[in-house]
Amino acid sequence: MVAYTGSEKEKIGQPSLVLSTPGPAVRMIQEKIAAQLPSWRSRVGRLTREHGNYKICDVTVEQIYGGIRGVQIQVSDISYVDPSQGIRLRGYTIPELMTLLPKAPGTEYPLVGGLYYLLLVDELPSDEQACMVEEEWRARSTVPDYVYQVIQAMPEDTHPMTLLSQAILALQRESVFSREYARGIKKADYWEAYLEDSFNLTAKLPAIAAFIYNLKYRQGDAIPPDPAQDWAANFAAMIGYGDNQEYQDFSRLVMVIHSDHEGANVSAHASHLVASALSDVYYACSAGMDGLAGPLHGLANQECLRWLLDVKAIFPDLPNPEALETFLWEQINAGAIIPGYGHAVLRTTDPRFTVQYEFAKKYMPDDKIFRLASQVYDVLPGILTRQGKVKNPWPNVDAINGALQYHYGVTQFDFYTVLFGVSRILGLTAHAVWSRALGKPIERPKSLTTRLLEEMVSKTGR
Ligand SMILES: CC(C)(COP(=O)(O)OP(=O)(O)OC[C@H]1O[C@@H](n2cnc3c(N)ncnc32)[C@H](O)[C@@H]1OP(=O)(O)O)[C@@H](O)C(=O)NCCC(=O)NCCS
Repeated sequence: MVAYTGSEKEKIGQPSLVLSTPGPAVRMIQEKIAAQLPSWRSRVGRLTREHGNYKICDVTVEQIYGGIRGVQIQVSDISYVDPSQGIRLRGYTIPELMTLLPKAPGTEYPLVGGLYYLLLVDELPSDEQACMVEEEWRARSTVPDYVYQVIQAMPEDTHPMTLLSQAILALQRESVFSREYARGIKKADYWEAYLEDSFNLTAKLPAIAAFIYNLKYRQGDAIPPDPAQDWAANFAAMIGYGDNQEYQDFSRLVMVIHSDHEGANVSAHASHLVASALSDVYYACSAGMDGLAGPLHGLANQECLRWLLDVKAIFPDLPNPEALETFLWEQINAGAIIPGYGHAVLRTTDPRFTVQYEFAKKYMPDDKIFRLASQVYDVLPGILTRQGKVKNPWPNVDAINGALQYHYGVTQFDFYTVLFGVSRILGLTAHAVWSRALGKPIERPKSLTTRLLEEMVSKTGR
């Protein structure tokens, strides 16, 4: 346990990093959001005023006991999972985003700053606007020492997701919103303080995640940030890939595709729920990360790689298609769930899979794990279709991501969810800003007892 010295205690007595005046990118985004707000507020106002009683859906007993699956309980204008085309971020599909977002200099991969602008502002950025966001992140990227001390104070075997969540929570003392709220800020202005917090948090998260990586897997050998690099490439540089343009491009790709996935998945909803109590962005995002850490959510990616490595151990020289088909049928018939296949909403190959698959075909066509993943992709959807149980026999984003990380030497499975979290912070914070901008209230659904349910169904006679 690291103990604070007297002088350090004094040092942490005041918030250390709050920018008193927003930088140019934040001012620009504030103005853009402010200009849209009257129209958004009037649309939401009209819907609730004139159609407040319009019934969206019924909720069944099965859904109540089944994780409220499929019940439409939220509005997210930031992203939407289109069952046939995959995630749309502000209306754009993944292939569209890869084409339309401004590119990092010298590469065909997007600047994540441009994506953040799109998520927040709902319009495609120019090159200059994307660069302004990147610049604002750079200016806010210094992480206060006490955050690192919190991480270092934890036992060595603490899961990296725990460290990430704790670091975000530790940063909460910097919250502009919490401070302004205590001073009596007007409700209509909450979102501006949320925006400040969001920029501060997203700016710092790559350095925090890199610190965790280096502490756990590189004997604490910290790598300083490279101010010449963009957000995603700088993160890659800080975990040891400063000279690897290919991995930096992969980092840009990964940060875009994982950034958001509607408003009601576990991490998004957990974060939204917490922020609805006017807990600030740090509390909300720490809670979101806690949800992401679960094996049924962000941890699935490492399960896929583990499964691929197990299959490779059985077929060290890669199986022929017939042998692989026989093996997969045996697995399915034995009741195994094949990680990386299926989806709760999607009914096609996840475009986030496809874009990584294309990347791998280009940069690592001979990698054994990738070739195995590719063989599985050729065979498994047919088997799952013939078996007839799964609603979606196609691969999801997780079927391949770990294989690519593994190829580049990021072999620490435990860290994969952190990589996911660094990207997902973009979506969580964008949702939080807009929830406050639209004045969304505290969430308070109602629970029932089993007895009450039994009484209700007995009255229907069914
Ligand atoms: C993603 C997932 C959780 C979606 O669950 P879901 O919406 O309940 O899926 P379905 O409605 O298609 O499931 C219907 C049946 O197919 C089975 N099934 C679903 N995905 C399967 C898979 N990848 N392999 C084998 N069987 C599968 C289910 O177990 C279920 O069987 P049951 O009726 O005997 O209970 C599920 O497909 C899964 O567990 N996939 C593997 C894990 C994974 O990749 N997670 C990351 C998701 S992004």
